[in-house]
Amino acid sequence: MSKREKDFFYKLAKKKGVNARSYFKLEQIQSKYKIFKAGQKVFDIGCAPGSWLQYVYEIVGSEGKFIGVDLSGMELSFPNLDFYQMDIFDVDSKDFFQKYGWVDVVMSDVAPKTTGQKIVDIERSYQLCKKSLDIVRVMLKPKGDFVCKMYHGERFDDFQALMKEVFFEVKIFRPKATRKISREIFWIGKGKK
Ligand SMILES: C[S@@+](CC[C@H](N)C(=O)[O-])C[C@H]1O[C@@H](n2cnc3c(N)ncnc32)[C@H](O)[C@@H]1O
Repeated sequence: MSKREKDFFYKLAKKKGVNARSYFKLEQIQSKYKIFKAGQKVFDIGCAPGSWLQYVYEIVGSEGKFIGVDLSGMELSFPNLDFYQMDIFDVDSKDFFQKYGWVDVVMSDVAPKTTGQKIVDIERSYQLCKKSLDIVRVMLKPKGDFVCKMYHGERFDDFQALMKEVFFEVKIFRPKATRKISREIFWIGKGKK
């Protein structure tokens, strides 16, 4: 049996019929920070293969609206999801804003392909987070919330400073569903200024 198969959260994900441990990370974030509510409009950055959408859909429901962006295609489809297969660096937030208006929540689980070179991976993750935050500045409604995954490292202080410009409350969360060896942390921005 492979290491992955032994992993508790992987087994749990399979049992629940969802496709990634990411689902449980977001569940833990929700139980602590109460980000999602019925009927919201949610922007999902790096949404494929779709387990965050699966989780959020259970809370937001069919009255909600979902906008998702990813380089990869999506096999899952959701009612009320507009999916864009594209690079987030090509997202023109103003165009999206014109089309959708304010969103209630932005979530970003976007992650670069790892190279094994710590400094390169951290820098790429930081650039993706910075672009996600640029989208937040334009698309997220005042008092709206943001969840953003980042590889922990040298850019921590830089990103914290940017988050504090945009949000009243900035928290760091490391869900139990995160592998022990993983460098990932989640920024929680509560209440856009
Ligand atoms: C950890 S996965 C996201 C998992 C997803 N939240 C879920 O629950 O199914 C990270 C995603 O980021 C996407 N990604 C990486 N760089 C990207 C970029 N520049 N633009 C758009 N998507 C990107 C990858 O294709 C991948 O699907």
